[in-house]
Amino acid sequence: MTWNEKTVAERIENPALREKVVSPEEAALIVRDGMTVGMSGFTGVGYPKAFPRALAKRAKEGDPVGITLITGASVGDELDGELARAGVTKRRYPYQTNKDLRDRINSGEIKYVDIHLGQVPVWIRQGVFGKIDLAVIEASSIDEAGNIVPTASVGCADMLAKYAEKVVVEISTCIPKEIAGLHDIYSCEKPPFTKPIPITAPGDRVGIPYIPCDPDKIAAVIFCDVQDSNRELAPADEQMQAIAEHLIAFLEAEVKAGRLTDPLPPLQSGVGGVANAVLSCLEKSDFQNLTVYTEVMQDAVVRLIRSGKVKMASGTALTISPSMKADVFGDIENLKDKIVLRPEEMSNSPEVIRRLGLIAMNTALEADLSGNVNSTHVGGRRLMNGIGGSGDFARNAGLTIFTTASTAKGGTLSCIVPVCSHIDHTEHDVDVIITEQGAADLRGLTAFERAEVIIENCAHPDFRAELREYVARIKAGTPVGHGFPARP
Ligand code: COA
Repeated sequence: MTWNEKTVAERIENPALREKVVSPEEAALIVRDGMTVGMSGFTGVGYPKAFPRALAKRAKEGDPVGITLITGASVGDELDGELARAGVTKRRYPYQTNKDLRDRINSGEIKYVDIHLGQVPVWIRQGVFGKIDLAVIEASSIDEAGNIVPTASVGCADMLAKYAEKVVVEISTCIPKEIAGLHDIYSCEKPPFTKPIPITAPGDRVGIPYIPCDPDKIAAVIFCDVQDSNRELAPADEQMQAIAEHLIAFLEAEVKAGRLTDPLPPLQSGVGGVANAVLSCLEKSDFQNLTVYTEVMQDAVVRLIRSGKVKMASGTALTISPSMKADVFGDIENLKDKIVLRPEEMSNSPEVIRRLGLIAMNTALEADLSGNVNSTHVGGRRLMNGIGGSGDFARNAGLTIFTTASTAKGGTLSCIVPVCSHIDHTEHDVDVIITEQGAADLRGLTAFERAEVIIENCAHPDFRAELREYVARIKAGTPVGHGFPARP
């Protein structure tokens, strides 16, 4: 597809960069076998689509090319799916949710390293990933100075633009140019020159509204009119609804007991159905003047803003479903004082998370009787997605909550287990576990006390007797209970 001069002139204000507009196929030729390529994107938004498709096509047509791929987090199928299926991705950091990529990771065909998302910008800066040969960044426009205005996510695109040798900018005509001004980009320096990130409230804007980029580094600009791939979220089922209701009741009780303030501290919530159900449940609660400081802002966050419940929301991705796009992008000017998009180095900053005293709410695959949580490996072996940002938040939040259904696979498996088959979050970082059965507040409890409250409040009744028996056996051999639960 060729792009008319008007679109090119509107979207690229720097005249020299207009001369660098090429087709995705031409741009994809920049990639050489063995390169490390960083691409923008976080969840199903803000990732390049035309470039990876062209690269995959090149590989499928018999020009084999293999890369190490780094992104902010998971990305859509046009990137992760296409490159995995074409055999282009050889090594992948730091998170993914794509079925075809996951299968190849689990078969050993693609090497995958699971990293805290807040650590990715740090490693880029430190050079842990080695030289980054190319950054491919989705943008809504390029300004006069060559700076890049991102789209619906930032992720680690700022760090990739800074440290990559070359940059390809993919301009998405699906995102209005008027999104400029929504972003707040503050890039940290290497120690010992690191300064505090001066955010003391979710709405503080402390950086600049674009990704700085030396125009000489921009090797090509391409255009794309493919929509982001995020889909409509299914309505919450009964189980998700029950989890959400227990969580809201828990927060209400904490406020009553004086352990949480009203208005609540800023909220962080993970992605998916339970997270959306929790935020939707807040809409019906008595909580007012809420704020959000999170990674991913889903539909429920926008609805809470519209209903006046949420005053301000900050994240690194605005992952809204197609039916909400017209509402958000048609009113983007008015939303700029209610929504901020930042790099993941800011959204997932341990320093800021601790300062704001966030309430962190993430999902587990399973939790054990000590309170350890497995978020990543089914049966301890099969990778699901990755740790994502859950560890950044769990370790540093003011209150850390993990939710899970009490059972999986049609009730045949208990998600409350004696010992997790893989541990992502240790008992020291998990304050509360909530299932559709109820909530277990683990703070200040000994090992045996934790086990009891988890079994009685969270485990499914069908599995409680077995779990109690397990604890009884441990107790019989270890009356003190430190280090519980070792396998008997
Ligand atoms: N044992 C075996 N399988 C289990 C299981 C368990 N204890 N718990 C869940 N599963 C299976 C489900 O049956 C389902 O299988 P399917 O794909 O074959 O249907 C699959 O795992 C996913 O489970 P589901 O309950 O649908 O997951 P979800 O969409 O609620 O996501 C996580 C849960 C943990 C995978 C997801 O939240 C995640 O990736 N978390 C880590 C990253 C994160 O927290 N990000 C946000 C931080 S800001």
